[in-house]
Amino acid sequence: MSLVNDVIQYYAARAPVFDETAGYTNLEEEFHRKTIKERYQKLFTGHKVLEIACATGYWTAAIAEAAESVLAVDINPALLSQAEKRCKFFSNVKFQIADAYTLGGVPSGFSAAFAILWWSHIPRERIVDFLQVLHLRLSPGAIVMFVDQLPYEGHVRRQDDTGNTIEQRTLPDGRSYEIIKNFYSEEDIRTVLAGMAENIKFVQHPDEKSWDVTYNVKY
Ligand SMILES: C[S@@+](CC[C@H](N)C(=O)[O-])C[C@H]1O[C@@H](n2cnc3c(N)ncnc32)[C@H](O)[C@@H]1O
Repeated sequence: MSLVNDVIQYYAARAPVFDETAGYTNLEEEFHRKTIKERYQKLFTGHKVLEIACATGYWTAAIAEAAESVLAVDINPALLSQAEKRCKFFSNVKFQIADAYTLGGVPSGFSAAFAILWWSHIPRERIVDFLQVLHLRLSPGAIVMFVDQLPYEGHVRRQDDTGNTIEQRTLPDGRSYEIIKNFYSEEDIRTVLAGMAENIKFVQHPDEKSWDVTYNVKY
């Protein structure tokens, strides 16, 4: 449990500076994110979206412009309260505190799911269970998109004895944390999704330092 709890605690501590440290207050980066937002909006147009680990709702707001509705969940109230403020003018957005690994209290019947910068924080041994829990909340054939980072420099990392990568993170106030941060190849991702997904498309965006995978849920 500690890999999972360490991630929760790190983001709880980072909550007051999350937007700033994620670059969401940087106007130049905002300009570059326009095409990314358009990509997500195109995918989720008209969908009932379940978003996992939404943090301060930066991408929730972008998706809400095109989706029929978005239910965005996160486990940290200090992040979710910022998300609620950000999205207060969207009548099609709701937020809920929920653990991504159980999705307790989250309804089902969504036609789409989305999570950005979440996949890398899931312990390898829990990914399949997480996906099964998520897929149970979705309609047959629902579209799913995960987005995460390509490997980057500048952090101290180690491998633990369960094959997960642990990365050191330091907050602006100097507090230091160790959290799970796994980097996957396309092959790894396809192996994880085998039998649970169809129409799998994996794309790397080196200029955005990210990859994304989209697929339809297969029952
Ligand atoms: C990298 S942040 C994701 C940020 C957000 N998707 C974005 O791109 O702005 C990871 C998020 O996962 C949330 N989180 C961590 N553990 C969780 C869990 N077990 N269930 C739900 N959310 C969790 C954290 O609170 C944090 O908001």
